[in-house]
Amino acid sequence: MPEPTDIRVLMVASEGAPFSKTGGLADVIGSLPPALAGAGCQTAVVLPRYGSTALEGARRVFDPLWIWLNPFNGFPVSIWLVEDRGLSWYFVDHPPLYDRPGLYGIDGEDFPDNHIRFAVLSRAALGVFRHLFPADVIHCHDWQTGLLPVYLRTRFALDPTYMGARTLFTVHNLGYPGLFPRQALPEMGLDDSVFHPDGVEFFGKVSLIKGGLAYADALSTVSPTYAREIQTPEFGFGLDGLLRARASVLHGILNGADYSEWNPETDPHIPANYSAADLSGKERCKRELLAEFGLPAEAASAPLIGIVSRFTAQKGTGLIAQAAGRIVAMGFYMVALGAGQPEYEELFRSLAAEYPGRIAVRVAYDNPLAHRIEAGADLFLMPSRWEPCGLNQIYSLRYGTVPVVRATGGLDDTIKEGTGFKFREYTADAMLAALHAAREAFADRERWVAMACRGMLEDFSWRASAAAYAALYRRIAARS
Ligand code: ADP
Ligand code: GLC
Repeated sequence: MPEPTDIRVLMVASEGAPFSKTGGLADVIGSLPPALAGAGCQTAVVLPRYGSTALEGARRVFDPLWIWLNPFNGFPVSIWLVEDRGLSWYFVDHPPLYDRPGLYGIDGEDFPDNHIRFAVLSRAALGVFRHLFPADVIHCHDWQTGLLPVYLRTRFALDPTYMGARTLFTVHNLGYPGLFPRQALPEMGLDDSVFHPDGVEFFGKVSLIKGGLAYADALSTVSPTYAREIQTPEFGFGLDGLLRARASVLHGILNGADYSEWNPETDPHIPANYSAADLSGKERCKRELLAEFGLPAEAASAPLIGIVSRFTAQKGTGLIAQAAGRIVAMGFYMVALGAGQPEYEELFRSLAAEYPGRIAVRVAYDNPLAHRIEAGADLFLMPSRWEPCGLNQIYSLRYGTVPVVRATGGLDDTIKEGTGFKFREYTADAMLAALHAAREAFADRERWVAMACRGMLEDFSWRASAAAYAALYRRIAARS
């Protein structure tokens, strides 16, 4: 039974599934708001309308909404509304800014006017608040919405519309600071009063993530371990001092998984459905996955490693490349799906060329294939250098695909002895030791199935985390 609604939340982000997605942020924005309904929150979401965003049944509800970043630069945006899963999803539409190939850039190059694109998003969200959805809490995510709390505390500080509105800023990845030259400041409609070390200044540049970190009323990140890690120089990207100073308002709330989307019992993208009670469908998923990747049928009895990842330095791509020869020598086969920085895409292509019939790679962004890998692989490898939460290892658990992960951030919080294999040092040797242990376990069929089934029965649904966010919203809105 849902609790009575007592708090209103306006969520603002740069991507949200199924409307737009490059990574886990979209999974969270697509699935947390519906879960919040069960925790007594009425939530609306503001997203950009990209060229690739399909808006079936959308209604234009405000047009034009003029955004004046400064007296010389105004943007007439339209606001579209989609009612989906009982919530209002608002889309900020302005084709010159958002209707481009790629969400943030093309071919690994960011669009040069990203500061304008996301300044307009933040300001348009404040317009949605004013005209369409007033709220108790505005929940911002990552650098793209880092300016919203800055606008509220400067330009709109005395505007009665926003009196009493509180902000929560969630860090999904400190590795993306949103850095721009100082000249970006007036272009975004901000003056020098915020350009100082306790404001948005970062070594002579403007850091949009710092805007969120310094000006929001409360902060959170997506796992308890990452909340601690980012307060250290090793994981802080130069922002650990600020995060330590704000530690009393910094919270770690683990992401949930959307099991209506990621569930082998119902998944429409996989060749055969299965459950912990009957794993026969998983064997078929493996055989078809091997065939799809052109790997030999006899590999069906060998351990198959799956990888689905943005190909970036964060994801431990370097370790995989260093260890590939030894992984193959240990008897593993590997399928990898990913896209990202061109040099890492090339690295994976060269691994496939070097180990034909053993390592197969698809450089693409392909959601159904991501599901087929989760279902068809035996192990899922995530040797991340840092991992704020990580969702793929959580999905892997549900698919009976045993995770092998580096013990960092959310990977450390979600995988335990008995459901997966962890290593601590960021070295190829440490990773290979974990893979060695996994191979030993795989050789004992009964032990392996027991481990896979334990993972399948773990519960990382949103229920507990949505309740934790709801409690935090109430606390910052001074409602409890
Ligand atoms: P991150 O957000 O850092 O990329 P997560 O593990 O939190 O990492 O989430 C990644 C999400 O993006 C998952 O839903 C995963 O399936 C998806 N994903 C990543 N790369 C691809 C790809 N190349 N094709 C399809 N889906 C992908
Ligand atoms: C980021 C992180 C990832 C996290 C996701 C959703 O992209 O890299 O670890 O799961 O955001 O919070």
